[in-house]
Amino acid sequence: MKRLPGRFHAVVFDLDGVLTDTARYHYLAWKRLADSLGIPFDEAANEHLKGIDRMGSLNLILGDQAAAYSPEKKIALADKKNDHYRQLIATMTEDDLLPGARDALLLTKASGLKTGLASVSKNAMTVVKALGIAELLDVIVDAARITHSKPHPEIFLTAAAHLGVVPGHCLGVEDAIAGVRAIKAAGMIALGVGDPLVLTEADLVISGLHHFTLDVVERPAQ
Ligand code: G6P
Ligand code: MG
Repeated sequence: MKRLPGRFHAVVFDLDGVLTDTARYHYLAWKRLADSLGIPFDEAANEHLKGIDRMGSLNLILGDQAAAYSPEKKIALADKKNDHYRQLIATMTEDDLLPGARDALLLTKASGLKTGLASVSKNAMTVVKALGIAELLDVIVDAARITHSKPHPEIFLTAAAHLGVVPGHCLGVEDAIAGVRAIKAAGMIALGVGDPLVLTEADLVISGLHHFTLDVVERPAQ
């Protein structure tokens, strides 16, 4: 842990599925929409949607049928999914932080590192406020501040630039395949949160932030 501040100057966290279980809510909301359209959709397919923006996710769900929907119809479907999602997040509170999430932010700051949030969600600020973590984040980069969704590195590069830290000195924390790719494309070290068999491109994978310590990332990928 003592060696880390020399190597890492910042930790940039994803939101959905890392700090809170909203990845589950995104899945449930998409599942409801897919069921209403008669399109098969399961958790394995959902892995490829994590970290992808709303319209990109809809296009992945529609697959070959995407071209059959007009832009207006697609916007209506994306809005419907968002209505389902907003119903699910409406009652969120600080209790919805995942185990270890607040401690991971506190440990990062206490170690002299900066904290950032990188979420392509348009609902990120609503969730951050509900969780009461805004004051623990030195920068929040959400959908409003970027053009490209993950796996494009823009969101992580933007966070690093605002923090004044070169990407090579940043640790990115992600639960999504697309998110890990974005971190690596940005030239950062990637800490995956979830299943190592899914997050194969991460430098190291832990099952949850309750395992987050700053020395865990000193070990090589397993
Ligand atoms: C995050 C989630 C995705 C979601 C995206 C857009 O990256 O991992 O599953 O599709 O945000 O969220 P939004 O709230 O804007 O629909
Ligand atoms: Mg995520």
